[in-house]
Amino acid sequence: MDDNPAVHQEMVTTSEEQSQPNPVGCNKNRRLLLVVFSFSLFAAALGLGVYSHLQKTADPWTSQWKSAAPPCLSPACIRTSEHFSAAMDPFSHPCDYFLFACGTGGSSTSDQRHRVRRISDEDNGELDKKREVRMRRETDIQGNSDGWLIKFPDRKTALLKTIKEILEAPEEGVSMSAAEQKAKKYFKTCMDAESPEKVGSKPFLTLLQQLGGWAVSNGWNQTDFNTTLALLMSQYSTFPFFSVYVGSDPDEEQAASDQHYIQIDEPHFQFPIDWNSKTQKSKASTRYLRPFYMSCGQYLDLLGVPSSETTQHCGLYVSLSTTLALATAPLHYRLSQKLLYHRITIQELQTLAPGIDWLACLNAIFQPLPISQSDLVLVHNLRYIMHMSQTISKWQVQHEMMGTGPLHTYMIFSLLHTLIPALDSRFFQTMRNFSIVTGDTEEEMPRWLRCLEQTERGFDTVLSHAIRERHAQKEAEELVHDVYSSLKKKLTDLVWRDDRSSAFILNKMKCLNPRLSTKTNNLSHAELNHLYAEVVLSEEDFFSNYLQILVLEQKSRSRLLSHGTQTDGLSITPSISGNNIIFPVGMFVSPFFHSSYPRALNYGTLGSLMAKDLLHLLLPDIQTKANNPELESMCIWSHYLSVTEDPGRVGTFSLSPSEQQEVWVQYSALQVALDAYKMSFTRHPEDSSLSDLSYIHLFLSSYTKVTCDADSYHEFMPFEPSFLVTVLCSNSHFCPKPLTCVNKSQSYPREMCQSRTLH
Ligand SMILES: *[C@@H]1O[C@H](CO)[C@@H](O)[C@H](O)[C@H]1NC(C)=O
Ligand SMILES: *[C@@H]1O[C@H](CO)[C@@H](O)[C@H](O)[C@H]1NC(C)=O
Ligand SMILES: *[C@@H]1O[C@H](CO)[C@@H](O)[C@H](O)[C@H]1NC(C)=O
Ligand SMILES: *[C@@H]1O[C@H](CO)[C@@H](O)[C@H](O)[C@H]1NC(C)=O
Ligand SMILES: *[C@@H]1O[C@H](CO)[C@@H](O)[C@H](O)[C@H]1NC(C)=O
Repeated sequence: MDDNPAVHQEMVTTSEEQSQPNPVGCNKNRRLLLVVFSFSLFAAALGLGVYSHLQKTADPWTSQWKSAAPPCLSPACIRTSEHFSAAMDPFSHPCDYFLFACGTGGSSTSDQRHRVRRISDEDNGELDKKREVRMRRETDIQGNSDGWLIKFPDRKTALLKTIKEILEAPEEGVSMSAAEQKAKKYFKTCMDAESPEKVGSKPFLTLLQQLGGWAVSNGWNQTDFNTTLALLMSQYSTFPFFSVYVGSDPDEEQAASDQHYIQIDEPHFQFPIDWNSKTQKSKASTRYLRPFYMSCGQYLDLLGVPSSETTQHCGLYVSLSTTLALATAPLHYRLSQKLLYHRITIQELQTLAPGIDWLACLNAIFQPLPISQSDLVLVHNLRYIMHMSQTISKWQVQHEMMGTGPLHTYMIFSLLHTLIPALDSRFFQTMRNFSIVTGDTEEEMPRWLRCLEQTERGFDTVLSHAIRERHAQKEAEELVHDVYSSLKKKLTDLVWRDDRSSAFILNKMKCLNPRLSTKTNNLSHAELNHLYAEVVLSEEDFFSNYLQILVLEQKSRSRLLSHGTQTDGLSITPSISGNNIIFPVGMFVSPFFHSSYPRALNYGTLGSLMAKDLLHLLLPDIQTKANNPELESMCIWSHYLSVTEDPGRVGTFSLSPSEQQEVWVQYSALQVALDAYKMSFTRHPEDSSLSDLSYIHLFLSSYTKVTCDADSYHEFMPFEPSFLVTVLCSNSHFCPKPLTCVNKSQSYPREMCQSRTLH
């Protein structure tokens, strides 16, 4: 286990008494030091002698934080200890570890570093194919590594793996709720690739009959347009002409309420749409129309429709699709034209877009909640909605006589797309072939990931409950609490431009209530079972299971509107909801967190990530109102230049505002996480460790490791964030040994740093 004897030795030889001069005055801001480091000797030197002395003798932290700790031998610790090695240890090569701490080591740094960066970057997106490709690449890197570059996965990947483990775990009876058994059963039937193949297109055709048939194959019952639309949206999560979801209004004063609104948006179209920025018009890309038409014919073929019907019906389908697409607009345009979040009552909407029976549709979607004419909805492109309504009315009149029912056919095609995951693989291949034609180069998602996504759509409440039960217990609550308190302390201590700004942000911090997830994952097993009581899953009939997932989605939309409680499901970053800062349970998965890990590890990894997320969340307020970000980041930057560049070049580059901001955020996050760990340690003065590292040493190594592997803000950093450990060490006595490089001429730009930070 001790693969790093050198470090170990240093640990033994560098003990308490080391008194390292402060070579660079980054944090000469005394108020900051007093609060954040009040327990240190530094504070004593600054005139808080008595206080600090008492602290020092009484405080278990001060007397123990450099000691070696008993090893953690839990299975989780043994699994994670492979992540910790000499390569990630800031103290094993103090001269330039931060230049390649994230790479392969040695001098050829940039290639590997960039590769690793790109992969671990964007982990905030939706579940999508990209992630899968990324995971695969990551596995490659792990596979190729020579044993000491075992990367942390990105946070989303770690969460997905955790959920997969939960779903695949053998059923051990008693403690599991019936709802959880259903989730596992769903996943299992989904993973069974055989069953949809056996039945072919039959389940879809049966469903089609139940819905009154369609004009494409004889026997359409001329079903009412509005009735069918309401049915598809409410029972089958299918939104052919416009999409409907629930969310808050960002323009509303945050603390005002948890108010959630019905939101109405453009639908998702199956083909690429070109935006002409000169004429500001959208148009379906002409070169893909032929393949789109062809794929329509292939679907009809799979459904057993005679090819004689294809020309007419697919022609109408393509024509209606492209007509609707004309009024869509890309997000950036809608944003610049303020077309988003348009508030309007349902009654007004009915007047502007009379082609749809809005009240009936929304009532169906959100049953059993009553929706009334005077309710407000938020519309994200009213022009599209009006155009869509006109198109529908026009087509309805034009085609009524001919009985071709293009509106109805269009809706059934939408339904078919929703149901493709539950149909046999020829449907999927047809869809896939078309998306390849349109330039989609992503690899196919593995089956388990698709199944996991489906399970999550229906059983989000169950899964977030299960993660909470297994992974985010007391230790997680404490981490949240400590990081949040420590962050408050840090903010109290900033130098604000004026009193009003500081009062504003501090008050905001005080009002916000940090919570480990929402009400929905605090349900009892009985409540949870009740929520899923109506779900009856079949061993063989995956199609019917999938339909139930769609109904569950409708229920959770409706719950969201009535209670405003979103299950955070696959979320991995904190968010503000009303008066709460919600820390989703998805954050608390290994290797970032485990209740059996040494706390030094939990606070160094997840604690610092959390602090970073929170600072980013609050940054818009801090950035404009406090002086520190700019001053501190400039000082850190000159420190960096002084140890990496020729002395003559110091100060030649400056940082962009976003880099300044990020440097400050990352350094503050390190301080906040360390302070939080200290709080925790003072409360329970014992902890375990890994690889024989002392508490503080493990904390700093964990921080280095996680910023290298799983930092989503990496691209805004002008240097490796692990350099911040150097800065911390040169400004405090925290480090197990000095992080100064003896054989480098380090000429710090002392004056500049001091004068700037002392403002
Ligand atoms: C279609 O209409 C016929 C005649 O009215 C009726 O017998 C049949 O049940 C209807 N089919 C559906 C699916 O509603
Ligand atoms: C849908 O219902 C609305 C309101 O009743 C009506 O104005 C509209 O014509 C109907 N749409 C179609 C296509 O029948
Ligand atoms: C998809 O494309 C592949 C390769 O071009 C072809 O072999 C296959 O038959 C196509 N599948 C369908 C369902 O169209
Ligand atoms: C969760 O439930 C427990 C017991 O029912 C309660 O004490 C606790 O306050 C609840 N937590 C949240 C966040 O609602
Ligand atoms: C510092 O000295 C060590 C040992 O003599 C050497 O290996 C290392 O390359 C030197 N570093 C620099 C930056 O000169």
